[in-house]
Amino acid sequence: MNKTTSAASLLISAVLVGLQTPLQPIQSALGFSIFGYTCVDYLIPKVGAVFIKRGIFGKDMSKVGRPIIPETIGVIPALVYLLVMFFYIPFLFARKGNNGGGGEADASAFSHSKLSSYLSSLLSLESMILLGLMDDLFDIRWRHKFFLPAIASIPLLIVYHFEFNQTSILLPKFISNAFQLSTSVDLGVLYYFYMAAVSIFCPNSINILAGINGLEVGQTLVIAVLLVINDLYYIVGYFLEDHLIQSAFEVHMFSLCFLIPFLGISLALYKYNKFPAKVFVGDTWCYFSGMVFAVIGISGHFAKTLMLFFLPQILNFVYSSPQLFGIVPCPRHRLPKFNESDGLLYNSYTEYEDSEESAESSDGKKKQLRPYLKPVFNLLEKMYLIKLVRNEKGEIVKSSNLTLINLVIIWFGPRNEGKLCTLIMQLQFAVGLLMLILRHTLAPTVFGFDNSWSMLNRFYIS
Ligand code: UD1
Ligand code: MG
Repeated sequence: MNKTTSAASLLISAVLVGLQTPLQPIQSALGFSIFGYTCVDYLIPKVGAVFIKRGIFGKDMSKVGRPIIPETIGVIPALVYLLVMFFYIPFLFARKGNNGGGGEADASAFSHSKLSSYLSSLLSLESMILLGLMDDLFDIRWRHKFFLPAIASIPLLIVYHFEFNQTSILLPKFISNAFQLSTSVDLGVLYYFYMAAVSIFCPNSINILAGINGLEVGQTLVIAVLLVINDLYYIVGYFLEDHLIQSAFEVHMFSLCFLIPFLGISLALYKYNKFPAKVFVGDTWCYFSGMVFAVIGISGHFAKTLMLFFLPQILNFVYSSPQLFGIVPCPRHRLPKFNESDGLLYNSYTEYEDSEESAESSDGKKKQLRPYLKPVFNLLEKMYLIKLVRNEKGEIVKSSNLTLINLVIIWFGPRNEGKLCTLIMQLQFAVGLLMLILRHTLAPTVFGFDNSWSMLNRFYIS
């Protein structure tokens, strides 16, 4: 961005932030989003060289000569986001107008009970930035860092306990009818474990759907856009119809207040991380962005709907689980294999020793394919869910790494890195949109209740 464009963006953001209108929270969010974008866009090119000087860099594995570029740059948008969200507080929680004491002042945009939700969300995000940074700098062990997001979410869960304490889930109508049950079951404390699990899952699942330029940020952009559409659906409905529950309107407004500035800083990061990447985002970004979604889902009481937008990450996790849990050997990097001669990305593989070799190996690290997995792999191969390489004896010597990225390469063929990332984002968006539509059409039919506005609801629920 040149100086004139930056100055113009800052001016527009100042007007949007400050202007008093009935839609002020959203309009301020847009202003802060533009402000966040401008700051991140300004800072990233400035700090890159400093990061490299401090030894914080990574090798871009899918380029000729594996050049080094700054790593952990996600900390810049993450910190800008925190600052922006601090600046935003008076616009959301200060009383509008003051009639000189004594009399009633106008109410703030959100009730003050929401302030505890807001602050505990920021506390959780701060903890995650710290964890991500520690991980990028000191490479923390998987088993040590795995549960930390759940601890980071404790303040948020306590606020949830006081604000909502809603721990019931709806049962599908056909089940409650068939077994003469009530329409909902109270999960009690289990619901809190579920929300803690969401805060573990979101950051980690983003981190393992990674390895090609742009994907770590790209996937968070797609999830954020889907969540914005979901929020708008409720908010537009509120203005068009009058029977929407007021609390649903408030939580979705609140969610937008987190998402819109987040989109601004993510877009600026994407500009530098997309193919050909000028910076790597680091685990800091994956943990931070994952936690942004977790806090939005938890504080907005839609942690279940949130998971619909994480379907690709859930599938990637399930598909990866044999490697994550050590049933199949897991190399340090599972990113696709770059072919220098045509510039395309091909499947990457995990290799097995054949039986004679491993009998001789003395390091105790057996990398043989477990016998019971052979028929499973053969079946998966027939279903185009894995690629296998066999030796002349017909034994499996290599299997493609179990990642969604590799699966997309199996289905769509080798691609250029930029096109592969775009394709995965498009698939993610299409799946997310389908989930969104099902959430607002099928869910009301199956559960017999939906807290959203929908023309279809009235059509279905009679
Ligand atoms: C996770 C994945 C790992 C994948 C890595 C890539 C699991 C269990 N772990 O590990 O398989 O290889 O992310 O981020 O699934 N890199 C690129 N191009 C990119 C992004 C990253 O070459 O577009 C390389 C760079 O060398 C970079 C490194 O990956 O320095 C970052 O890896 P890191 O985030 O530390 O890996 P993990 O999160 O541990
Ligand atoms: Mg990572």
